[in-house]
Amino acid sequence: MGGDRVKEGDAVLLYGGRRTYLIRAVERGGKYSFNEGVVRADDIIGRSYGEEVVTHLGVRFKLVRPTLLDIVYRAFARRTQVIYPKDAAFIILKCGIGPGSRVVEAGTGSGYLTALLAYFVRPSGTVYTYEVRSEFAEVARRNLRLAGLLDYVVIKEKDVRDGIEERDVDAVVLDMADAWLVVGHAFGALRSGGTLACFLPTVNQVEKVVIEAVRAGFVAVEAVELLLRSYKVKAGETRPELRMVGHTGYLVFARKP
Ligand SMILES: C[S@@+](CC[C@H](N)C(=O)[O-])C[C@H]1O[C@@H](n2cnc3c(N)ncnc32)[C@H](O)[C@@H]1O
Repeated sequence: MGGDRVKEGDAVLLYGGRRTYLIRAVERGGKYSFNEGVVRADDIIGRSYGEEVVTHLGVRFKLVRPTLLDIVYRAFARRTQVIYPKDAAFIILKCGIGPGSRVVEAGTGSGYLTALLAYFVRPSGTVYTYEVRSEFAEVARRNLRLAGLLDYVVIKEKDVRDGIEERDVDAVVLDMADAWLVVGHAFGALRSGGTLACFLPTVNQVEKVVIEAVRAGFVAVEAVELLLRSYKVKAGETRPELRMVGHTGYLVFARKP
């Protein structure tokens, strides 16, 4: 990311046609094939963002610089359930995560949430992420490298139920099935005023985490759910889309006093 013109190695979004496409890294001499035809890398490299390229079938695409979300949600490999942007964004805000933050995360999964956390702790913070399955840790490592965020992450191939090694961290973020077993470790790892955030797909997990959080000594324990509804906008006919993602998960937050 950076600069007004597309450089070799850049990620580029192509808007137009029936779909939007992401090229992860434009390679000189490369050809990219879509339903709407083929685009040559040499027609993209050196162009300004906002300009158009035309496929061999005559379909026009605008070159758009991708955002972090474009890269994570369009280019990352997905081997596990992953966090939704609406939930990740609220976690980041509630935990006060910003440049310099030290954050513990478990499990890493495909590294989607790890990447979003890493982006916000840059340039001086670190995400310590625990993953018990090495194949997922490897997927996450590749994804983070692709996004240029691996330098801000320490991937720990460990079972977080055995303990959290870091101390005085600003936040602990858990997205794993039995998060309540880690709440006590999270209390030990957090600094005073630090925040625990748990993403939990079912209400019985919420109850277990909240009971454990209160028992551990956390305060300001709360459970919330975020619903996101998209709209179909057309003059005189604007209304909610007929389909929506009805459920992702619940969020539990708690503060260490
Ligand atoms: C739903 S996925 C996490 C997805 C991740 N938040 C993302 O956005 O890509 C849950 C992950 O937690 C890992 N996990 C489950 N229990 C764990 C444990 N005790 N310690 C470390 N990782 C664990 C699983 O292997 C799985 O990869």
